[in-house]
Amino acid sequence: MDLNTVREVVLVRERTELPAWQPGDAFIAGGCWLLSATVFQQIASTILQTTVERLRLRQSDTDTSKFDTGAFGSTGTTVTGKVRDNRFGFARLGDIQPAGGGTGSVTELRIDDLDKECSMANQVHLGHIFHLAGSPKVTKAAAVLVSIPDGALVIGDDGTIVYCGERGDLPDEYPSATVHDHRGGYLLPGFVDTHIHFPQTYAYDSYGGGPLLEWLNMCIFPSESKFADPEFAQQAAVEFTRRRVATGTTAAMVFGSAFPHAQDALFTETQKAGLRIVAGRGIQTRGPDTAKPLITSEEDAIRLTREEIDKWHGADTGDYNSALLHVAIIPRFSLSVTTETFKRLGELYDDVRDRGVYLHSHLNENNRPGTGEVDSTKQDFQVNSYLDTYDGKFLPGSKVGGSSLLGRRTILAHCVHMQDVELERMAETGSSVSHCPVSQLFLGSGTMPWKRTVASGVNISAGTDVGGGDEWLIPRVLGDAFKVHITEPGDAGVSMHPAEMLLLGTLGGARALDMENRFGNFDLGKEADFVVVDPSGTPALSAVLRNAVRADDTELARDQTLFGLLMGIRESWITEVYVQGRRAKAS
Ligand code: GUN
Ligand code: ZN
Repeated sequence: MDLNTVREVVLVRERTELPAWQPGDAFIAGGCWLLSATVFQQIASTILQTTVERLRLRQSDTDTSKFDTGAFGSTGTTVTGKVRDNRFGFARLGDIQPAGGGTGSVTELRIDDLDKECSMANQVHLGHIFHLAGSPKVTKAAAVLVSIPDGALVIGDDGTIVYCGERGDLPDEYPSATVHDHRGGYLLPGFVDTHIHFPQTYAYDSYGGGPLLEWLNMCIFPSESKFADPEFAQQAAVEFTRRRVATGTTAAMVFGSAFPHAQDALFTETQKAGLRIVAGRGIQTRGPDTAKPLITSEEDAIRLTREEIDKWHGADTGDYNSALLHVAIIPRFSLSVTTETFKRLGELYDDVRDRGVYLHSHLNENNRPGTGEVDSTKQDFQVNSYLDTYDGKFLPGSKVGGSSLLGRRTILAHCVHMQDVELERMAETGSSVSHCPVSQLFLGSGTMPWKRTVASGVNISAGTDVGGGDEWLIPRVLGDAFKVHITEPGDAGVSMHPAEMLLLGTLGGARALDMENRFGNFDLGKEADFVVVDPSGTPALSAVLRNAVRADDTELARDQTLFGLLMGIRESWITEVYVQGRRAKAS
């Protein structure tokens, strides 16, 4: 390495308080290098082998997707590189080597997106905090409900939560923190929507002249076909992302468009906004005439899905463990695919499961006798249960025809009309239910039996199912869940606890996405996804919260406040939305 050509090395940021800090480690957060002074010197002496005055890390304009984690590649006289992955991880100094054995001239080190990532400092957010601590099952949610009326949430410069507690107990170790005073408002974990349709962005008010199958045929397939136009799809991706920011949906399982250009637009807009997403193109290999533009050959169904996985799964960081962008394999529902598709999807999923790819579809939504979705599926495939078609048992008599699509990264929407064996199998495989009561009301699909579903032990999360659902806001889904379950007949009726509602819309969703270890509540070390809810801009509603009767019992009063908040929240109350401690912003 020719050291004489090194002109400047700038120590961008110093960080010494990392718990597992080892001399010689470089800490990388979201593409931003945080170097200790020691490491800086070591880089100078052992990599560059010179005493450099300035190390400048700046935005890379090269395609560095070929580089491995922590590695640099040498291009001519410039070392360029992008640190992929390693968010919240450590790269050994020894990993930071120019390709080609360390020869060549180093003039500068360039890191992707540095300016954006490094603009964060410690942030303190003040407000009334509600969240669910730990990792409770839905039946234990009430026991771990945390309410801190005069609370402080501190986000470290790596975007994780470093303090969640009383404002009065805030340690003084955050002298350079920026204080965001939201007092009078609330801080809640970001909402997680585990079932929403991107190509129905403009179709959530569709009159379909009937329930599910008629509505799909008359309204939805034609609406989704409009996404064949790239300009239309791009405009919809912007609108869809705006709706998500406006409603505080920080993470979502998104049923995507059949068209790859539309999916590209969706992932690009999501990444620009800084939101999380799991999405995949809707796969259809058969269907009625109105669905023709959405249908592909068997070969194309697999090829396009594989290409989407390779292009977008973990694309933002290069590692699905740290990424905000993920891909799911999404057969629309069993009536949209053939046994051949199921067989090939099983093979594809076997191939990509260990890369953290997701699986998403619909299950047991409409039970009109004889001609509805459930009976049509059972008749078509000659299976004992609808779930069997997703479980590799899609041949007549529920004979095994391929690999199961179930697992910890599988989310099935609706699950209204489930047999006990289906619930047991979902629980056993770690698959999750996306509960979509707004949509079930809109399409007359019935009510998912709350007590029976909970008793099965399956994880339950919340989905808007836009456009089957006509609400974008997850708390509106939670509100309708409360209403439909208190209305269930006889002993099945139940008054959901507000902590259960909160679980459904936050932590249960993170669990359904198999990322509960990363977000979903305000446990220390989690990535800081949260919404600021400020009722002051909506006087009529804030007056309700202020003046409502509260019990003398403090626990009940706490529950009443949370309930009032979840039932009352409207879009106008959501004033700020954060993912990994960064403000989400749609274009
Ligand atoms: N089943 C198959 N496709 C759909 C859809 O787009 N929405 C709903 N709610 N159910 C479906
Ligand atoms: Zn749906």
